[in-house]
Amino acid sequence: MLAVPYQTMTHDQWTAVDEFIARRLHERDEALDAALAASAEAGLPAIQVSPCHGKMLHLLARAMGARRILEIGTLGGYSTIWLARALPTGGRLISLEANPKHAEVARANIARAGLAGAVEVRLGRALDTLPQLAAEQAGPFDLFFIDADKEHIAEYFDWAIRLGRPGSLILVDNVVREGAVLDAESADTAVQGVRRFIERLGRDQRVSATVVQTVGVKKYDGFALAVITAATARTP
Ligand code: SAH
Ligand code: DHB
Ligand code: MG
Repeated sequence: MLAVPYQTMTHDQWTAVDEFIARRLHERDEALDAALAASAEAGLPAIQVSPCHGKMLHLLARAMGARRILEIGTLGGYSTIWLARALPTGGRLISLEANPKHAEVARANIARAGLAGAVEVRLGRALDTLPQLAAEQAGPFDLFFIDADKEHIAEYFDWAIRLGRPGSLILVDNVVREGAVLDAESADTAVQGVRRFIERLGRDQRVSATVVQTVGVKKYDGFALAVITAATARTP
């Protein structure tokens, strides 16, 4: 039974529950705290994944035994640290970031977390650096986290499939946008980018996918999960 009727639930309550969970289930974490403090100090926007979603990324990477991870959209490296900590010895994470200041802050945060040896932050627009990765034969990656500009999600998703293998997991952040994803007439280019991605995802024979809606400190949003299937066999 709900403690409060749904209509009266607020962002304050979602935040309080996120904090309740994190306090009980997460260890104190100096590297992550320092990464958030340094990011705020440098004036980066506080749009990183929530602690609970960061840990979820970490657990998914661990559960699938991901050895190679590709992230698109680094910011200050908060999600990067959560993901990279799931890597086994010898595992690698590459994170793509267009903003030089974000990349610099992230590299320092990642080094402070003791992960510099496993993580490369590659500077440049993802639509420029993704073809570089393909040319270098940097894949196949086991896990992708797509979390950069929302206008190009569909293109990033196509690159993920190209750089993945059957069984790779592709996660895409921020695809519900407080329900704005339903608004076909939205003037918000991020909403249109997400809508274009979802429409294509539904027709994509190369993956099996769903979207999970979420509430919490980051309000009402959601993420897409897709597993790359064999090109011929579409599974439910
Ligand atoms: N994944 C991070 C948050 C990323 S915020 C976390 O959860 O901790 C989105 C990031 O994508 C920003 O740092 C922004 O500079 C970057 N970005 C925006 N457009 C980009 C592009 N075309 N290529 C690469 N990065 C881009
Ligand atoms: C924004 C981007 C994100 O990746 C996110 O998780 C929240 C907000 C943004 O661009 O506003
Ligand atoms: Mg995001």
